[in-house]
Amino acid sequence: MDQLIALEGVSKTFLSGKRPVPVLQSVSLSVSAGELCAIMGVSGSGKSTLMTLMGLLDRPSAGRLLFRGRDLGPASGDDLADIRNREIGFIFQAFHLLPRLSALDNVAMPLLYRGTPRREALARAEARLEQVGLAHRLHHLPDEMSGGQRQRVAVARALIGQPSILLADEPTGNLDSQSAQDIMATLVALNRDIGATVIIVTHDPSIAARCHRRILIRDGRLAEDVSGPC
Ligand SMILES: Nc1ncnc2c1ncn2[C@@H]1O[C@H](COP(=O)(O)OP(=O)(O)OP(=O)(O)O)[C@@H](O)[C@H]1O
Ligand SMILES: [Mg+2]
Repeated sequence: MDQLIALEGVSKTFLSGKRPVPVLQSVSLSVSAGELCAIMGVSGSGKSTLMTLMGLLDRPSAGRLLFRGRDLGPASGDDLADIRNREIGFIFQAFHLLPRLSALDNVAMPLLYRGTPRREALARAEARLEQVGLAHRLHHLPDEMSGGQRQRVAVARALIGQPSILLADEPTGNLDSQSAQDIMATLVALNRDIGATVIIVTHDPSIAARCHRRILIRDGRLAEDVSGPC
């Protein structure tokens, strides 16, 4: 299979004052194109830390991180940012939308940063918002939308650059159960219909059950990595 991200014996240690705190220890896993994968584990087990490493937002303290077979150890910060911009979409629990921009402008922003002409960026943003069911909310500000709608804007924004992989860290954590199901249905459909690779951190077993692969992190270690139906 077409391997996107691989971690080989990856550890991450933070310093608390002068004391080293090991957060991830010897994690090895690889993610292939087209996977729909859940990451589970109790609070503090290291899930978000793992996501920041897979999203190239941080570097391992030890071990190797490979993207499309390339060892990123020697890569510069600019190289990592470049791969991130082209290949990785993020969805966070707290949406991270820009409050003064409309839904349309929020979604277009990653393209505008890349220098895409404004007309084209807005047209593509509109198409993405339609795809997540928000054609009727293009000009609303984040404040004027529900939590579920805001999260769908965040999904559209994560998708606009056509990333190879979508990383979602508790994307439904702040939502009521109906909105959470809508977001999950959107992510599952993206995986099924356009083959998007999706990794979702979730505490919700019913969401994990919809993923083809489930990874359990316990005390910073990979405790389970199971593929196939629940
Ligand atoms: N920058 C940091 N400096 C020091 N310790 C950190 C840092 N980031 C995370 N940690 C510690 O690493 C551990 C794992 O944190 P992480 O955010 O990865 O957990 P999590 O599994 O995502 O938890 P939750 O389900 O609550 O989001 C925690 O004990 C946390 O305090
Ligand atoms: Mg977390």
